[in-house]
Amino acid sequence: MKGVILHGGHGTRLRPLTHTGPKQLISVANKPISQYVLEDLRNSGILDIAIILGDILPEKVKDHYGDGSKFGVNITYLYQERPAGIAQAVGLAEDFVKDSPFVVYLGDNLLKGGIAKCVKEFQQQNYDAMILLCKVENPQQFGVAEFDQNGKLVRLIEKPKKPPSNYALTGIYFLTPIIYKMIKQLKPSWRGELEITEAIQLLVDNGYNVGYRIVESWWKDTGTVEDIIEANRLILDELKPKIEGTIQDKACIQGRVTIEKDTVIKRGALIRGPVVIGKNTTIEDGVYIGPYTSIGNNVTIKKGEIENSIIMDNCLIEIEEKIIDSLIGSNTEIITNQRGPKGHKLIVGESSKIVL
Ligand code: DAU
Repeated sequence: MKGVILHGGHGTRLRPLTHTGPKQLISVANKPISQYVLEDLRNSGILDIAIILGDILPEKVKDHYGDGSKFGVNITYLYQERPAGIAQAVGLAEDFVKDSPFVVYLGDNLLKGGIAKCVKEFQQQNYDAMILLCKVENPQQFGVAEFDQNGKLVRLIEKPKKPPSNYALTGIYFLTPIIYKMIKQLKPSWRGELEITEAIQLLVDNGYNVGYRIVESWWKDTGTVEDIIEANRLILDELKPKIEGTIQDKACIQGRVTIEKDTVIKRGALIRGPVVIGKNTTIEDGVYIGPYTSIGNNVTIKKGEIENSIIMDNCLIEIEEKIIDSLIGSNTEIITNQRGPKGHKLIVGESSKIVL
Protein backbone atom coordinates (compact mmCIF):
# COMPACT_ATOMS: atom_id res chain seq x y z
CA MET A 1 0.00 0.00 0.00
CA LYS A 2 1.10 3.55 -0.69
CA GLY A 3 -0.11 6.82 0.80
CA VAL A 4 -0.96 10.19 -0.74
CA ILE A 5 -1.34 13.22 1.53
CA LEU A 6 -3.02 16.33 0.14
CA HIS A 7 -1.19 19.40 1.39
CA GLY A 8 -2.51 22.06 -0.98
CA GLY A 9 -5.57 24.32 -1.06
CA HIS A 10 -5.76 27.93 0.02
CA GLY A 11 -7.34 27.60 3.47
CA THR A 12 -9.23 30.87 3.01
CA ARG A 13 -11.36 30.30 6.11
CA LEU A 14 -8.21 30.18 8.21
CA ARG A 15 -6.71 33.49 7.16
CA PRO A 16 -4.54 35.21 8.31
CA LEU A 17 -2.83 32.00 9.51
CA THR A 18 -2.78 30.69 5.94
CA HIS A 19 -1.05 33.82 4.58
CA THR A 20 2.17 32.44 6.04
CA GLY A 21 1.87 28.73 5.38
CA PRO A 22 -0.45 25.90 4.38
CA LYS A 23 -3.29 25.19 6.80
CA GLN A 24 -2.20 21.60 7.27
CA LEU A 25 0.90 22.86 9.12
CA ILE A 26 -1.17 24.62 11.80
CA SER A 27 -0.38 23.02 15.15
CA VAL A 28 -2.95 21.22 17.21
CA ALA A 29 -1.67 20.13 20.64
CA ASN A 30 1.76 21.30 19.45
CA LYS A 31 1.95 19.10 16.36
CA PRO A 32 1.13 20.08 12.74
CA ILE A 33 -2.19 18.58 11.65
CA SER A 34 -0.61 16.83 8.66
CA GLN A 35 1.93 15.16 10.97
CA TYR A 36 -0.94 13.26 12.64
CA VAL A 37 -1.91 12.15 9.12
CA LEU A 38 1.63 11.07 8.19
CA GLU A 39 2.06 9.21 11.49
CA ASP A 40 -1.29 7.48 11.03
CA LEU A 41 -0.19 6.21 7.60
CA ARG A 42 3.16 5.09 9.02
CA ASN A 43 1.53 3.37 12.00
CA SER A 44 -0.67 1.49 9.54
CA GLY A 45 2.40 0.15 7.75
CA ILE A 46 2.30 2.62 4.84
CA LEU A 47 5.84 3.92 4.44
CA ASP A 48 5.90 5.06 0.82
CA ILE A 49 4.13 8.41 0.87
CA ALA A 50 3.60 11.19 -1.67
CA ILE A 51 2.84 14.65 -0.34
CA ILE A 52 1.03 16.87 -2.84
CA LEU A 53 2.14 20.41 -2.18
CA GLY A 54 0.12 23.49 -3.03
CA ASP A 55 1.17 27.02 -3.92
CA ILE A 56 1.23 28.53 -0.42
CA LEU A 57 4.80 28.34 0.88
CA PRO A 58 5.28 24.65 0.02
CA GLU A 59 8.93 24.88 1.10
CA LYS A 60 7.70 25.04 4.72
CA VAL A 61 6.28 21.56 4.31
CA LYS A 62 9.56 20.25 2.89
CA ASP A 63 11.49 21.90 5.71
CA HIS A 64 9.34 20.11 8.25
CA TYR A 65 9.19 16.62 6.72
CA GLY A 66 12.43 16.47 4.70
CA ASP A 67 12.85 13.10 2.99
CA GLY A 68 10.68 11.52 5.68
CA SER A 69 13.49 9.57 7.38
CA LYS A 70 13.00 11.52 10.64
CA PHE A 71 9.46 10.13 10.68
CA GLY A 72 10.35 6.64 9.52
CA VAL A 73 8.84 7.03 6.04
CA ASN A 74 9.96 7.71 2.49
CA ILE A 75 8.47 10.92 1.03
CA THR A 76 8.02 11.90 -2.62
CA TYR A 77 6.92 15.52 -3.19
CA LEU A 78 4.56 16.42 -6.01
CA TYR A 79 3.31 19.89 -6.89
CA GLN A 80 -0.20 21.07 -7.60
CA GLU A 81 -0.08 24.49 -9.26
CA ARG A 82 -3.48 25.62 -8.04
CA PRO A 83 -6.28 24.00 -6.03
CA ALA A 84 -8.12 22.45 -8.97
CA GLY A 85 -9.78 19.76 -6.85
CA ILE A 86 -9.01 16.72 -4.78
CA ALA A 87 -9.36 14.42 -7.82
CA GLN A 88 -7.00 16.61 -9.84
CA ALA A 89 -4.44 16.40 -7.00
CA VAL A 90 -4.85 12.62 -6.81
CA GLY A 91 -4.37 12.53 -10.59
CA LEU A 92 -0.90 14.00 -10.14
CA ALA A 93 0.11 10.92 -8.15
CA GLU A 94 -0.61 8.39 -10.93
CA ASP A 95 3.05 7.66 -11.70
CA PHE A 96 3.87 7.48 -8.00
CA VAL A 97 1.05 5.00 -7.32
CA LYS A 98 1.77 2.79 -10.37
CA ASP A 99 -0.14 -0.48 -9.83
CA SER A 100 -0.38 -0.32 -6.04
CA PRO A 101 -3.49 0.13 -3.93
CA PHE A 102 -3.24 3.38 -2.01
CA VAL A 103 -4.79 5.62 0.65
CA VAL A 104 -5.55 9.27 -0.06
CA TYR A 105 -5.61 11.21 3.20
CA LEU A 106 -6.54 14.90 3.23
CA GLY A 107 -3.83 16.65 5.22
CA ASP A 108 -6.36 18.55 7.35
CA ASN A 109 -8.32 15.51 8.57
CA LEU A 110 -7.90 14.00 12.02
CA LEU A 111 -9.22 10.58 12.98
CA LYS A 112 -9.17 9.13 16.47
CA GLY A 113 -7.74 5.64 16.57
CA GLY A 114 -6.33 5.93 13.06
CA ILE A 115 -6.83 3.92 9.88
CA ALA A 116 -4.82 0.74 10.63
CA LYS A 117 -7.94 -1.45 10.96
CA CYS A 118 -9.41 -0.05 7.71
CA VAL A 119 -6.14 -0.61 5.85
CA LYS A 120 -6.22 -4.28 6.90
CA GLU A 121 -9.85 -4.67 5.87
CA PHE A 122 -9.24 -2.98 2.54
CA GLN A 123 -6.35 -5.35 1.85
CA GLN A 124 -8.44 -8.39 2.79
CA GLN A 125 -11.56 -7.49 0.79
CA ASN A 126 -11.73 -7.37 -2.93
CA TYR A 127 -12.77 -3.71 -3.08
CA ASP A 128 -11.92 -1.41 -5.98
CA ALA A 129 -12.36 1.46 -3.53
CA MET A 130 -13.43 1.92 0.05
CA ILE A 131 -14.61 5.11 1.71
CA LEU A 132 -14.77 6.05 5.36
CA LEU A 133 -18.01 7.69 6.48
CA CYS A 134 -18.83 9.57 9.66
CA LYS A 135 -22.26 10.45 11.06
CA VAL A 136 -22.47 14.25 11.31
CA GLU A 137 -25.11 16.86 12.17
CA ASN A 138 -24.28 19.18 9.27
CA PRO A 139 -24.01 16.89 6.22
CA GLN A 140 -24.60 19.83 3.83
CA GLN A 141 -20.96 20.81 4.37
CA PHE A 142 -19.50 17.53 3.13
CA GLY A 143 -19.74 14.85 0.52
CA VAL A 144 -22.70 12.68 1.58
CA ALA A 145 -23.50 9.00 1.01
CA GLU A 146 -26.87 7.57 0.02
CA PHE A 147 -27.76 3.91 0.60
CA ASP A 148 -30.54 1.63 -0.64
CA GLN A 149 -32.81 -0.36 1.74
CA ASN A 150 -30.16 -3.07 2.00
CA GLY A 151 -27.50 -0.63 3.11
CA LYS A 152 -25.76 -0.77 -0.29
CA LEU A 153 -23.96 2.42 -1.25
CA VAL A 154 -25.73 3.86 -4.29
CA ARG A 155 -24.79 7.52 -4.52
CA LEU A 156 -22.28 10.09 -3.35
CA ILE A 157 -23.16 13.78 -3.56
CA GLU A 158 -20.87 16.69 -2.87
CA LYS A 159 -22.30 19.33 -0.47
CA PRO A 160 -25.99 18.53 -1.15
CA LYS A 161 -28.66 21.09 -0.22
CA LYS A 162 -30.94 18.21 0.79
CA PRO A 163 -28.65 15.49 2.18
CA PRO A 164 -30.00 11.95 1.68
CA SER A 165 -28.33 10.82 4.94
CA ASN A 166 -26.21 12.06 7.82
CA TYR A 167 -23.19 10.09 6.66
CA ALA A 168 -20.40 12.38 5.49
CA LEU A 169 -17.43 11.26 3.47
CA THR A 170 -14.32 11.75 5.53
CA GLY A 171 -11.26 12.84 3.62
CA ILE A 172 -9.76 9.36 3.78
CA TYR A 173 -10.13 7.25 0.64
CA PHE A 174 -8.87 3.70 0.06
CA LEU A 175 -8.29 3.38 -3.66
CA THR A 176 -6.88 1.22 -6.43
CA PRO A 177 -5.42 2.51 -9.72
CA ILE A 178 -8.77 2.01 -11.50
CA ILE A 179 -9.73 5.40 -10.02
CA TYR A 180 -7.45 7.04 -12.62
CA LYS A 181 -9.71 5.84 -15.42
CA MET A 182 -12.61 7.65 -13.68
CA ILE A 183 -10.65 10.82 -12.87
CA LYS A 184 -9.84 11.19 -16.58
CA GLN A 185 -13.56 11.34 -17.36
CA LEU A 186 -14.35 14.11 -14.85
CA LYS A 187 -15.46 17.63 -15.72
CA PRO A 188 -15.08 20.56 -13.30
CA SER A 189 -17.95 20.77 -10.80
CA TRP A 190 -19.98 23.86 -9.84
CA ARG A 191 -17.05 24.91 -7.66
CA GLY A 192 -14.68 24.57 -10.59
CA GLU A 193 -12.91 21.51 -9.18
CA LEU A 194 -12.42 17.89 -10.18
CA GLU A 195 -14.28 16.13 -7.38
CA ILE A 196 -13.06 12.83 -5.94
CA THR A 197 -16.67 12.26 -4.84
CA GLU A 198 -17.70 12.18 -8.52
CA ALA A 199 -14.81 9.88 -9.46
CA ILE A 200 -15.95 7.37 -6.82
CA GLN A 201 -19.55 7.77 -8.03
CA LEU A 202 -18.33 6.75 -11.49
CA LEU A 203 -16.87 3.59 -9.93
CA VAL A 204 -20.29 2.83 -8.39
CA ASP A 205 -22.09 3.60 -11.67
CA ASN A 206 -19.77 1.31 -13.62
CA GLY A 207 -20.39 -1.62 -11.30
CA TYR A 208 -17.09 -1.57 -9.46
CA ASN A 209 -16.97 -2.89 -5.92
CA VAL A 210 -17.04 0.16 -3.62
CA GLY A 211 -17.11 -0.60 0.10
CA TYR A 212 -17.52 1.65 3.09
CA ARG A 213 -16.77 1.72 6.79
CA ILE A 214 -18.22 3.98 9.46
CA VAL A 215 -16.02 5.91 11.89
CA GLU A 216 -16.48 4.48 15.36
CA SER A 217 -15.04 7.33 17.42
CA TRP A 218 -14.39 10.92 16.28
CA TRP A 219 -13.24 12.43 13.00
CA LYS A 220 -12.53 16.10 12.42
CA ASP A 221 -12.09 18.15 9.26
CA THR A 222 -10.16 21.21 10.43
CA GLY A 223 -11.38 23.81 7.95
CA THR A 224 -12.22 26.64 10.37
CA VAL A 225 -10.81 28.21 13.54
CA GLU A 226 -13.65 26.63 15.55
CA ASP A 227 -12.79 23.20 14.09
CA ILE A 228 -9.14 23.64 15.08
CA ILE A 229 -9.99 24.66 18.64
CA GLU A 230 -12.30 21.65 18.87
CA ALA A 231 -9.65 19.33 17.41
CA ASN A 232 -7.25 20.66 20.04
CA ARG A 233 -9.80 19.76 22.73
CA LEU A 234 -10.34 16.27 21.31
CA ILE A 235 -6.62 15.55 21.20
CA LEU A 236 -5.91 17.02 24.64
CA ASP A 237 -8.70 14.82 26.00
CA GLU A 238 -6.36 11.90 25.41
CA LEU A 239 -3.20 13.64 26.59
CA LYS A 240 -0.76 11.51 28.55
CA PRO A 241 0.89 13.68 31.22
CA LYS A 242 4.67 14.12 31.05
CA ILE A 243 6.80 16.69 32.85
CA GLU A 244 10.28 17.31 31.41
CA GLY A 245 10.57 21.01 32.26
CA THR A 246 11.09 22.69 35.62
CA ILE A 247 8.22 23.29 38.00
CA GLN A 248 9.29 25.72 40.69
CA ASP A 249 8.15 25.33 44.30
CA LYS A 250 4.67 26.72 44.83
CA ALA A 251 3.75 26.51 41.16
CA CYS A 252 0.56 24.48 40.91
CA ILE A 253 -0.04 21.78 38.29
CA GLN A 254 -3.48 20.19 38.29
CA GLY A 255 -4.81 17.38 36.08
CA ARG A 256 -3.15 16.04 32.93
CA VAL A 257 -0.35 18.35 31.85
CA THR A 258 2.62 17.88 29.51
CA ILE A 259 5.54 20.24 29.89
CA GLU A 260 8.51 19.84 27.58
CA LYS A 261 12.23 20.37 28.10
CA ASP A 262 13.75 23.70 29.13
CA THR A 263 10.37 25.15 30.04
CA VAL A 264 9.93 26.82 33.41
CA ILE A 265 6.70 27.15 35.34
CA LYS A 266 7.42 29.79 37.97
CA ARG A 267 6.13 29.85 41.55
CA GLY A 268 2.61 31.20 41.81
CA ALA A 269 1.59 30.01 38.32
CA LEU A 270 -1.42 27.70 38.02
CA ILE A 271 -1.69 25.18 35.16
CA ARG A 272 -4.96 23.27 35.06
CA GLY A 273 -4.98 20.45 32.51
CA PRO A 274 -5.45 19.11 30.03
CA VAL A 275 -2.70 21.44 28.87
CA VAL A 276 0.39 20.96 26.71
CA ILE A 277 3.33 23.36 26.89
CA GLY A 278 6.25 23.12 24.45
CA LYS A 279 9.99 23.62 24.87
CA ASN A 280 11.86 26.63 26.20
CA THR A 281 8.72 28.43 27.35
CA THR A 282 8.30 30.49 30.50
CA ILE A 283 5.11 30.82 32.49
CA GLU A 284 5.52 33.55 35.10
CA ASP A 285 4.21 33.98 38.64
CA GLY A 286 0.45 34.60 38.79
CA VAL A 287 -0.35 33.32 35.31
CA TYR A 288 -3.28 30.90 34.93
CA ILE A 289 -3.34 28.41 32.03
CA GLY A 290 -6.71 26.66 31.98
CA PRO A 291 -8.09 23.46 30.43
CA TYR A 292 -7.72 22.65 26.73
CA THR A 293 -4.85 25.01 26.05
CA SER A 294 -1.78 24.28 23.92
CA ILE A 295 1.23 26.56 24.22
CA GLY A 296 4.10 26.20 21.75
CA ASN A 297 7.88 26.56 21.99
CA ASN A 298 9.76 29.71 23.05
CA VAL A 299 6.66 31.38 24.43
CA THR A 300 6.67 33.77 27.39
CA ILE A 301 3.50 34.34 29.34
CA LYS A 302 4.30 37.11 31.76
CA LYS A 303 0.81 37.94 32.89
CA GLY A 304 -2.75 36.88 32.11
CA GLU A 305 -5.13 33.96 31.95
CA ILE A 306 -5.65 31.62 29.01
CA GLU A 307 -8.23 28.92 28.46
CA ASN A 308 -9.35 26.67 25.59
CA SER A 309 -6.84 28.21 23.18
CA ILE A 310 -3.81 27.55 21.02
CA ILE A 311 -0.78 29.81 21.38
CA MET A 312 1.83 29.01 18.75
CA ASP A 313 5.64 29.39 18.93
CA ASN A 314 7.59 32.52 19.90
CA CYS A 315 4.68 34.49 21.38
CA LEU A 316 4.77 37.00 24.22
CA ILE A 317 1.70 37.60 26.34
CA GLU A 318 1.43 40.12 29.16
CA ILE A 319 -2.16 41.18 29.75
CA GLU A 320 -4.71 41.98 32.45
CA GLU A 321 -7.53 40.13 30.65
CA LYS A 322 -8.36 36.50 29.98
CA ILE A 323 -7.88 34.92 26.54
CA ILE A 324 -10.46 32.26 25.65
CA ASP A 325 -11.30 30.16 22.54
CA SER A 326 -8.43 31.74 20.60
CA LEU A 327 -5.92 30.74 17.98
CA ILE A 328 -2.77 32.87 18.18
CA GLY A 329 -0.22 32.50 15.37
CA SER A 330 3.57 32.36 15.87
CA ASN A 331 5.61 35.45 16.73
CA THR A 332 2.63 37.35 18.12
CA GLU A 333 2.82 39.82 21.02
CA ILE A 334 -0.25 40.59 23.09
CA ILE A 335 0.50 43.13 25.80
CA THR A 336 -1.40 45.58 27.93
CA ASN A 337 -1.14 49.20 26.92
CA GLN A 338 0.63 50.68 29.98
CA ARG A 339 0.91 54.26 28.78
CA GLY A 340 -1.21 56.76 26.90
CA PRO A 341 -5.00 56.98 26.75
CA LYS A 342 -7.02 53.92 27.64
CA GLY A 343 -7.95 51.74 24.66
CA HIS A 344 -6.75 48.89 22.49
CA LYS A 345 -3.79 49.48 20.22
CA LEU A 346 -3.94 46.93 17.41
CA ILE A 347 -1.38 46.07 14.76
CA VAL A 348 -3.07 43.21 12.96
CA GLY A 349 -2.37 41.25 9.76
CA GLU A 350 -4.80 40.95 6.88
CA SER A 351 -7.97 38.86 7.34
CA SER A 352 -7.61 38.71 11.13
CA LYS A 353 -10.56 38.46 13.49
CA ILE A 354 -10.47 40.12 16.90
CA VAL A 355 -13.28 39.87 19.45
CA LEU A 356 -12.70 42.36 22.29
O1 DAU B 1 -13.01 16.73 4.84
C1 DAU B 1 -13.94 15.92 4.17
C2 DAU B 1 -14.49 16.59 2.95
O2 DAU B 1 -13.36 16.99 2.13
C3 DAU B 1 -15.40 15.62 2.17
O3 DAU B 1 -16.59 15.37 2.90
C4 DAU B 1 -15.77 16.20 0.82
O4 DAU B 1 -16.47 15.25 0.08
C5 DAU B 1 -14.50 16.58 0.04
O5 DAU B 1 -14.81 17.19 -1.19
C6 DAU B 1 -13.68 17.56 0.87
O6 DAU B 1 -14.44 18.73 1.02
P1 DAU B 1 -13.83 20.14 1.45
O7 DAU B 1 -14.71 21.22 0.93
O8 DAU B 1 -13.59 20.11 2.93
O9 DAU B 1 -12.46 20.19 0.70
P2 DAU B 1 -11.36 21.30 0.75
O10 DAU B 1 -11.46 22.14 -0.46
O11 DAU B 1 -11.39 21.98 2.09
O12 DAU B 1 -10.03 20.46 0.65
C7 DAU B 1 -9.76 19.40 1.49
C8 DAU B 1 -8.26 19.23 1.68
O13 DAU B 1 -7.60 18.94 0.45
C9 DAU B 1 -7.54 20.42 2.25
O14 DAU B 1 -6.54 19.94 3.14
C10 DAU B 1 -6.91 21.10 1.07
C11 DAU B 1 -6.62 19.94 0.14
N1 DAU B 1 -6.74 20.28 -1.28
C12 DAU B 1 -7.95 20.69 -1.76
C13 DAU B 1 -8.12 21.01 -3.08
C14 DAU B 1 -9.45 21.44 -3.61
C15 DAU B 1 -5.65 20.17 -2.12
O15 DAU B 1 -4.54 19.79 -1.67
N2 DAU B 1 -5.80 20.49 -3.44
C16 DAU B 1 -7.00 20.90 -3.97
O16 DAU B 1 -7.08 21.18 -5.17
